[in-house]
Amino acid sequence: MIKKAIILCGGTGSRMFPVTQSVNKQLLPVFDKPMFYYPLSLMMLCGVKEFVFIINKGQERNFRNTIGEENDLGIKIKYVIQNSPRGLPDAFLITRELIKNKSIAMILGDNFFYGNMLTPLIKDSFKKNKGCNIYLYPSNKPSAYGVVEFDKKNRIKRIIEKPKRTSSNLIITGLYVFDKKVSDYAKSLKPSKRGELEIVDLIRIYKNQNKLNTIKLGRGSAWMDVGNFKDLQSASNFIQNVEDRQSYKIGCIEEIALNNKWINKTQIKNRIKFCANTNYSKYLKNLISK
Ligand code: G1P
Repeated sequence: MIKKAIILCGGTGSRMFPVTQSVNKQLLPVFDKPMFYYPLSLMMLCGVKEFVFIINKGQERNFRNTIGEENDLGIKIKYVIQNSPRGLPDAFLITRELIKNKSIAMILGDNFFYGNMLTPLIKDSFKKNKGCNIYLYPSNKPSAYGVVEFDKKNRIKRIIEKPKRTSSNLIITGLYVFDKKVSDYAKSLKPSKRGELEIVDLIRIYKNQNKLNTIKLGRGSAWMDVGNFKDLQSASNFIQNVEDRQSYKIGCIEEIALNNKWINKTQIKNRIKFCANTNYSKYLKNLISK
């Protein structure tokens, strides 16, 4: 079972300059919540209560202010500063002490996942994990992401980062599970041509040991990397559309904590104060008025 997740909220955010010159992109709003609430909420839906946030220097106060009192959400967060972005596997080098010989999930702070069957699928994969899990999604622009190519017998043929050409449309989303060996393996990696440690190199180590599980997210689910202006706008519109039609919120961390029985009405009341006079706080009021 996975109990802890790293949420990657570092990086230069250069695709969103000048907006992200002074603030981590994961703090920007995606419709009515900060971007990182969405990956955080997915992990909470899957039962994860302990988090390690990897952030840039000088951003801890911003994150603490945005998340508010952790006790009111029934979760624990540790912050680890990343001095310079050295690629995704660097997360496992700077959090080695916190991983403590356990399997761990990692999710990118700019990845948005949505879908009816997503939580049971991911929860189930969290129980079965032996080695490394990656979660694949069909994309019409695979060259922008990590890609997995399969042969006719459905065996993995190739795992490649941002291929110029590929026969596959299955991209590797920013959610991963790794076993306790991950920090040791990350240490053995060498920077790629673009000067970064590559997540696909880490995944390949598990593949070579037959310890890689690929989980395909169904076509009825949505996945977006919202780390650029266009996709952020699309995700905001998507969330607004679904929320307006259903009157349920997507990524409401208080609602998830309440449903998980991690918190009670008192803590929701604290959060109502925290969110002041917004539609969000009205939604929270509604949750406890029934
Ligand atoms: C990173 C990973 C890539 C993955 C993507 C998902 O790319 O390197 O394998 O498909 O996240 O969002 P980046 O967003 O850093 O270009």
